Amino acid sequence: MNSAEIRASFINFFKEKEHTFIRSSSVVPIDDPTLLFTNAGMNQFKPIFLDKIKPNNLRAVNTQKCIRVSGKHNDLEEVGVDKFHHTFFEMLGNWSFGDYYKEEAIRWAWELFTEIWKLDKKRLWVTVFKDDDVAYDLWIKVTDIDPARVIRCGKKDNFWEMGETGPCGPCSEIHYFIGEDINQQDAKGVNHSDQYWELWNLVFIQNNRKSDGSLEDLPSKHVDTGAGLERIAAVMQAKTSNYDTDLFLPIIEELEKLTKIEYNRTPIPFRVIADHVRMLGFSIADGALPSNEGRGYVLRRILRRAARFGRELNLHEPFIYKLIDSLGNIMKESFPEINEKSSHIKNVLEAEEISFNRTLDRGLNHFEKIVDQLAGKTINGLDAFKLYDTYGFPLDLTQLMAKERGLEVDEDGFKISMNEQKNRARKKDQFQKDDDLLEWT
Ligand code: SER
Repeated sequence: MNSAEIRASFINFFKEKEHTFIRSSSVVPIDDPTLLFTNAGMNQFKPIFLDKIKPNNLRAVNTQKCIRVSGKHNDLEEVGVDKFHHTFFEMLGNWSFGDYYKEEAIRWAWELFTEIWKLDKKRLWVTVFKDDDVAYDLWIKVTDIDPARVIRCGKKDNFWEMGETGPCGPCSEIHYFIGEDINQQDAKGVNHSDQYWELWNLVFIQNNRKSDGSLEDLPSKHVDTGAGLERIAAVMQAKTSNYDTDLFLPIIEELEKLTKIEYNRTPIPFRVIADHVRMLGFSIADGALPSNEGRGYVLRRILRRAARFGRELNLHEPFIYKLIDSLGNIMKESFPEINEKSSHIKNVLEAEEISFNRTLDRGLNHFEKIVDQLAGKTINGLDAFKLYDTYGFPLDLTQLMAKERGLEVDEDGFKISMNEQKNRARKKDQFQKDDDLLEWT
């Protein structure tokens, strides 16, 4: 199945079980100051879980555009280095708002995976929250999973929370072993080895985390599931990398044409750029713009990372915007907004790339000088700050380049330099105000 067919098959499976299809919400959350970006399918349903609004339907199915680059869920470090974490990804989900609970969620997830999609049961593993005997027993009772493949895990892996506050609850995850030899599996690898991919998370929403850190019971119990489309596409298309699926490959091929370099020769820059163009395209389509603070600065950081990886492929002219048509084409059935807004997206990207290109090469030279003169393994805060202030290098870009050389950056020193500069600017502003006052008196 291609990715569009997988998406449709998920949605239809749950429609047949009386779920109503609900469109993805924007990646730029409306009315939720706790989030910079939509980081999970459940974000748009938070007011339902908190009993602030009543749902029109008690069962829903959707595919949500998610971005995980800040806050509690941040996958940026993994992107490109591994083959299955992304800044932007699609989360397929089925939802019960105070209707069905653990039994149906578990039974249907297993039915879809093993009977409809025919995933190999000998590669599937399930985790449950250590105290959740009900979920554990249900897996054994309502599915034909081998009991040895059901593992109890702690809060870190099996208690899902969207952020510091909000609806949350114990969860049960389905993992898939992607290794070549199915005899080489071991329960200990789940959650620890990159040979085991989490494909689907079934969250049993029953609590609310309050701002003082305490948990309260919600008035009703709900089901929130999230299945990563990119990983499922990889597994169903018999790939061991999300980048080899039809969700990424056309972008990578376009980049091969632009660079005349083969993806396999140097995969990481290709993967990072293919990932970042999706995050940038969707955020700009949904109304975000690069800027110097908050959400806008996240966009700027992602674009600058992509531009710098472009240098590794000898791209010196703006190029990210040239990949938008390919993205629009991949997404056109489910998310026509990329094609509809493509000229706006391209204009924003090109202008931003042109602006960073003015300082990027000089910044890279300056970085080389810093590394040449470095005694020890740590780039000092002032040097990192100069890269930021003079050449526009976000701290995480400098940290990434440092990491590639086995170095690190003094982050505290960077913050001190940043604060000193803010104080200087504040004082200058004050003098300016005093001068203005003198002129008026
Ligand atoms: N909220 C859960 C997650 O984001 C399941 O949808 O993983």
